[in-house]
Amino acid sequence: MTARVPAKLNLQLAVGPPRADGYHGLVTVFHAVSLFDEVTVEPAAQDTVSVTGEGADRVPEDGDNLALRAVAALRAALPRRAAQPGGVQVTIAKRIPVAAGLAGGSADAAAALVACNELWASGFSQPRLAEVAATVGSDVAFALVGGTAVGRGRGEQLTPALVPSTQYYWVLAFADGQLSTPAVYTALDRLRASGPGKTAGPGKTAGPGKTAPGDPDLDAALMSALRSGDAVRVGGRLSNDLQPAALSLFPALRKTLAAGLELGALGALVAGSGPTCAFLAANAERALDLAVSLSGAGVCRSVARVAGPVPGAAVVTAG
Ligand code: C5P
Repeated sequence: MTARVPAKLNLQLAVGPPRADGYHGLVTVFHAVSLFDEVTVEPAAQDTVSVTGEGADRVPEDGDNLALRAVAALRAALPRRAAQPGGVQVTIAKRIPVAAGLAGGSADAAAALVACNELWASGFSQPRLAEVAATVGSDVAFALVGGTAVGRGRGEQLTPALVPSTQYYWVLAFADGQLSTPAVYTALDRLRASGPGKTAGPGKTAGPGKTAPGDPDLDAALMSALRSGDAVRVGGRLSNDLQPAALSLFPALRKTLAAGLELGALGALVAGSGPTCAFLAANAERALDLAVSLSGAGVCRSVARVAGPVPGAAVVTAG
């Protein structure tokens, strides 16, 4: 049983202060894009995972693997009276780079959930699967639903964005290196502690009616731009509170972002916790031009053209 699952971008990522549980409250606009991993699950004596493709050597193949954790979480969530399924061999074919800010590990977990739900005929609805997903990681529930959606809490509380299904054309610039998500959040806390105001984004400032200073807000101007379907307006409202932290840990990304904007991108931002940079293009043709120019500019390891939004994790073959 094979499921295909997309990478994600955050068109807005507004991060609040750290919570008591160590996570950061956030408001984000998730956007699934057409860069896919494929995850196959087959019955086996015990749960094992093997990984091929982009960055495969950097994906853990033990209990830390998010897809394996998703398999275990789904098994544990099955009703006691149901026949308990045996082990599964999970095979992940990666095209989403590892530790790149594109939620590739979360995507693989979501695909494993969808594939095992089918293999075991568990019959979990998408909302029920999303509850299991949220226990595996903050971005896993979104990888199940895909499209464009607003995430709150740790990112796991999702509401549909209610925007038209306009296609947006993106160029992704993959970096020569990785960033650890916890390290980027820690760097953000440090930057904020040392220089108030330095990392202000559209969602960060406390305003009237707020429950606590620094609670993040959904960017109304971004949502209005998305409702209009106007890529120029969307490009002007992309924002990521994690970007200054990612840049502090990976200064070379400044050059990548500047190059993309100089080459005509409508907007540019670091994807999630980085180090991938995402550039919005006016249309498919401009995206091709931008991809060619960016790869010639020597400011990244490689580039990919993707479109969004695309649907979330789905079974592709019942093999
Ligand atoms: O939930 P997930 O395992 O994907 O998160 C990875 C790490 O990113 C967390 O351990 C935490 O350090 C950081 N994080 C956070 N606030 C969030 C999401 C993630 O601090 N909302």
